[in-house]
Amino acid sequence: MSPTLPEPAAMSRALMLLQAGQLVGLPTETVYGLAADGLNPFALRQIFAAKGRPVDHPLILHLGDAAWLPRYAEPDPRAEALAAALWPGPLTIVLRRKPGVPDEVTGGRETVALRVPAHPVAQALLWAFGRPLAAPSANRFGRVSPTTAEHVREELPGVFVLDGGPAVVGVESSIVDLSGPVPALLRPGGVSAEAIAAIIGPLGASQTVAPGTLPGHYAPRTALRLSHTPDAEAEVARAQGLTVAILRAGEPQDHARRLYAELRRLDALGVDLLLAEPSADAALGVAINDRLSRAACSGGHPPPPPPPAAPPPPPPPPPPPPAPPRRPRPAPPPPPPPPILTDDAALRAILQTPVSLAVLGAKEGDWEPAFYVPAYLHARGWQPIGVNPKLAGRPWLGAAAVASLAELPAPVVGVEIFRRPDQLPAIAEELLALPWRPKFVWFQLGIRHDLAAARLSDAGIDVVQSRCMMPEHRRLIGG
Ligand code: TXA
Ligand code: MG
Repeated sequence: MSPTLPEPAAMSRALMLLQAGQLVGLPTETVYGLAADGLNPFALRQIFAAKGRPVDHPLILHLGDAAWLPRYAEPDPRAEALAAALWPGPLTIVLRRKPGVPDEVTGGRETVALRVPAHPVAQALLWAFGRPLAAPSANRFGRVSPTTAEHVREELPGVFVLDGGPAVVGVESSIVDLSGPVPALLRPGGVSAEAIAAIIGPLGASQTVAPGTLPGHYAPRTALRLSHTPDAEAEVARAQGLTVAILRAGEPQDHARRLYAELRRLDALGVDLLLAEPSADAALGVAINDRLSRAACSGGHPPPPPPPAAPPPPPPPPPPPPAPPRRPRPAPPPPPPPPILTDDAALRAILQTPVSLAVLGAKEGDWEPAFYVPAYLHARGWQPIGVNPKLAGRPWLGAAAVASLAELPAPVVGVEIFRRPDQLPAIAEELLALPWRPKFVWFQLGIRHDLAAARLSDAGIDVVQSRCMMPEHRRLIGG
């Protein structure tokens, strides 16, 4: 598919807008970006305002070619090898920053994310502009990324968009973090982990999650569920009076390319349920299933209105002086929950054992569990036990994926059950016969689980059924 090239007048206008600190909708081979001068703090702040994106979510700096890299980041031989093999292309590299990079780009971090896009329009604009362009995906925060100029116009009316035709990759770049000694994949994307590892060696467990790659991203408004058997599930849902649309898998490149456009189109139909068939592909399928799982986590909820633009967060205020004694007052509202992924002490207290979540019946191709058992556990040395050999070695799989609960030698905090409804009553009995009790059991939305749920909750175990695990349970397992 050869990209469309805009008229020269449109390119000149885009260039003038960028020079004036304004935003431009930019085609890239992955998705459309919302570009601004990557070295101009005023221009960068427009990005956060337009997207409604939290100001501490860092941005990717797009470069004309790899020779620009040492101006903005500390060179690294692994980055040079990756750049030589995979740039221009759908790969973003995180490195230690050089001093000139604005805090608006890095979110105040000591690292910066860099990529050389392959789209000829992005290339032409970068070389004409002569400076890096910061460009997040050109969607409002948390929404489906745009893969056509029309999508950008719908998402961000008023932004000038260069039309470079439909994006040819269709999912965002892979992000590899080279800021530490062990490279880590922060986001699966257009380049497979295997392709990256073939150049720089094995990827280790990530110490961080890419800020902004939260479960609730890429959200359609309609409830979405992953399904390996969408026709059968659709039949069941229709028999219950629901209207259903199916997003089918297919040849991986085509699947990735049409993924976001189909999500938008099906979302606009106004059906009750979207069933999305996961990809079975070991390369691009990882990125496709990652985005689908995130969409599954947040579908069915209208997005929050975009917050107003805010300056970078101020340093935390000093603790208030002790208050003088007062008459008793009504109890204040409970404090907000501690931030996920940082509450080490609380997690250690809860986790007496290395395993916090047993995923019963997960198999290759079940991607949703990955979001609740983050690399965090690995990073702290909690090794999974009883891992299904097919899932072993995935950096984010910090839980035990087991075929049978009896395989688990130690207590676990939660059990997530991926099994057929007719097996659930027997599993509930098996659970109750164990010498330990999980704090919660989680079933995927749509599984008939009434009998098993009643048995388990009578025994004092929390039963959750939702598209995603409830935040309080996710916190229990550190994800
Ligand atoms: O394919 C892509 O990468 C597209 C096109 C437009 O280039 N861009 C894109 O940008 O997906 P955005 O902002 O939607 O996603 C960038 C991701 C965010 O999750 C952000 O947290 C992460 O990159 N990121 C940026 N700088 C980082 C850093 N210094 N450390 C870790 N993660 C970083
Ligand atoms: Mg994005």
